[in-house]
Amino acid sequence: MNQPKNHILVIFGASGDLTYRKLVPAVFDLYNQNLLPEKFAILGLGRTDLSDVDFRAKMKSGIQQFALNKPDDENKLNDYLEKLHYFSFDTKDPDEYCLLKGKLRELDEACGTDNNFIYYMATPPNMYEIIPEQLAKQALSDESAGFKRLIVEKPFGYDLKTAQKLNKELLKYFNEEQIYRIDHYLGKETVQNLLVTRFSNGIFEPLWNRNYIHHVEITGAENIGVGNRGGYYEGSGALRDMIQNHLLLLVGLVAMEPPTLIDSTNIRNEIAKVFHSLRPIKEEEVAKYAIRGQYTASHIKGEAVKGYREEQGVADDSRTETFAAIKLFIDNWRWAGVPFYIRSGKMLPTRVTEIVIHFKSTPHHLFANDASICNNYNQLVIRIQPDEGVLLKFGMKVPGAGFKVQNVNMDFHYSDLSDTYLPSAYERLLLDCMLGDSTLYHRGDAVEAAWKFVDPILKAWKNDKNIPVHGYPAGTWGPEVSDELIEENDITWRYPCKNLANDGNYCEL
Ligand code: BG6
Repeated sequence: MNQPKNHILVIFGASGDLTYRKLVPAVFDLYNQNLLPEKFAILGLGRTDLSDVDFRAKMKSGIQQFALNKPDDENKLNDYLEKLHYFSFDTKDPDEYCLLKGKLRELDEACGTDNNFIYYMATPPNMYEIIPEQLAKQALSDESAGFKRLIVEKPFGYDLKTAQKLNKELLKYFNEEQIYRIDHYLGKETVQNLLVTRFSNGIFEPLWNRNYIHHVEITGAENIGVGNRGGYYEGSGALRDMIQNHLLLLVGLVAMEPPTLIDSTNIRNEIAKVFHSLRPIKEEEVAKYAIRGQYTASHIKGEAVKGYREEQGVADDSRTETFAAIKLFIDNWRWAGVPFYIRSGKMLPTRVTEIVIHFKSTPHHLFANDASICNNYNQLVIRIQPDEGVLLKFGMKVPGAGFKVQNVNMDFHYSDLSDTYLPSAYERLLLDCMLGDSTLYHRGDAVEAAWKFVDPILKAWKNDKNIPVHGYPAGTWGPEVSDELIEENDITWRYPCKNLANDGNYCEL
């Protein structure tokens, strides 16, 4: 494996949660596997006044809690912490960027990092235009003496217009090749495995089209509420928070054509093509194709749980959706007429992300009870999390007299590969950026195409007060009307459980 070049990882927003829980622990995991370059430093930037010592102490506790490789060697942990530095800095203040330049020069000389810098914007999104501009003004985007890469956290824009504007602004100061738009779903091992499952097996690809697939279902369910993120979530909602990015990405990977090569340009071209082929949902048709819901107070396992409107930072009359389900079509040769049903919500019965490919039934039902298992046509379940794996459901004879059919499961669980280490999403993505590989990062045009698809839904939900926000009791599978999106009577959503092989409405509350 290639080793990244020496560099400094500069984190804007270093006093925040993302740095503490994800970034610094993920880089520690890389360090532990000797995947960092010989000369490397992290420079944390934040408004909170911290010394290097304070910053290291705080990050140490983050590593102890959140790193996948638990730091049992105190010396190794301390060696890593020595690479961490902190600089109090007001991101909004243009005058301070000149001080930052001085600090970077000093650190670069001391650490021998060859003037290579990665800037990670882990700040609120209103900083995403200021930071690149100010960096560029200080010539800190200039690559003549070393690479300069910019990682942009989500949310990438608030709607199509703001995403276009953000792209335009970023591209004034950095080239597309320098910009890494992160979607942590692309960093998940099981999401990358979608490419391998599809394109390394001869048996699936011939069936992977409108001739054999009846519909595709994608679920991104969470069993937690918004917690202390109510303030952020009020301005976001499930459509922006999960669907525009993570779930549409899964649609892209399921629906894309085989790329000619596994490289950044080819893979990203194919994903973008899918997004461009999404059939637009007109604003006036939104009620037919999209359902929104909001969790209400309820009892889970005998314990009272709050409704969304009672959460901290949420308005009493909020209409922000905590659940969204959409029926969509991809207008191209492969997928013409195949509905994709996607849904995501908070406070559902379980945390699960999975893709279900529902194959068409046999053309002629030979066996008496074929019809009763109709709802369970052959299914291929690709489980992203938890109990990561793949499951194939098919019909077998019930032993004994006659010819009765039952559904059986054939399943593979990643956990069976017990000695395999599954890296965290941030670990994989940070390493790729260090190596200059943007395959698993979004390209600007694809992000805009995804916004273009969700934009009319956002608008209709904002402007048309007649489109209801359905309440659903916390701990249930969202508004019952979301079943109506699936028009055929004998078909419903799959109700997944924590264990890949089980399903059923409430099997693991
Ligand atoms: C984030 C959203 O992007 O993804 C969160 O902002 C959500 O609201 C999270 O909880 C889900 O990620 P994961 O990896 O837990 O499925």
